[in-house]
Amino acid sequence: MALTEQARARLAPQAAEIVGRYPRARSALLPLLHLVQSEEGYVSEDGITFCAEQLGLSEADVTGVLSYYTMYKRKPVGEYHLGVCTNALCAVMGGDAILADLAEHLGVDVDEPTPDGKVSYEHVECNAACDYAPVVMVNWEFFDNMTPAKTRDLVDTLRSGADVAPSRGAPRLCTWKQTAQILAGFPDDQAAGGHTAGEPTLAGLHLAREQGWEPSA
Ligand code: FES
Repeated sequence: MALTEQARARLAPQAAEIVGRYPRARSALLPLLHLVQSEEGYVSEDGITFCAEQLGLSEADVTGVLSYYTMYKRKPVGEYHLGVCTNALCAVMGGDAILADLAEHLGVDVDEPTPDGKVSYEHVECNAACDYAPVVMVNWEFFDNMTPAKTRDLVDTLRSGADVAPSRGAPRLCTWKQTAQILAGFPDDQAAGGHTAGEPTLAGLHLAREQGWEPSA
């Protein structure tokens, strides 16, 4: 897909705003890649050129950074992209089983959208949410204590078009492109909403208070 002239004109003021947040233009590359992804759903060759032009970089510079981070995609993924954690704790708690079952249920490969364009998946490393293992993310929002059956239900619900609420964080799940817009630095109205830290996360804090433990100097 080409980045149309209309899209470039629409993105240019937002790109300038992002670049203006940094003392050096090249520091804006990561949010700029998210901005392109919010338009295209991935980062095309045209998207790479757009970033290079905005920042005075070569296309090779942009591609080198782009290819390092798995959050940026080089081809379209689903409207809802799942990340199944298969790092150590989640794996032994069922993450590997979730991933295998999900692949069979959806019948598509990693990073490949379902034929309706709704869902895709990949396996991800630790999401720093081990207290809720096994964890599945959808567009980087948490779904805690998952099982293969719960994950099948989740993707079926997403494909039906019904609203889905993450376990924590934003009360409403955004689409892949909307999420990219937020990651580019243009937040939606949900930043203060949703659940805060849950009991498993706070258990250590409560124990320390009960025991009267203090941080050492
Ligand atoms: S191992 Fe899955 S969140 Fe840490």
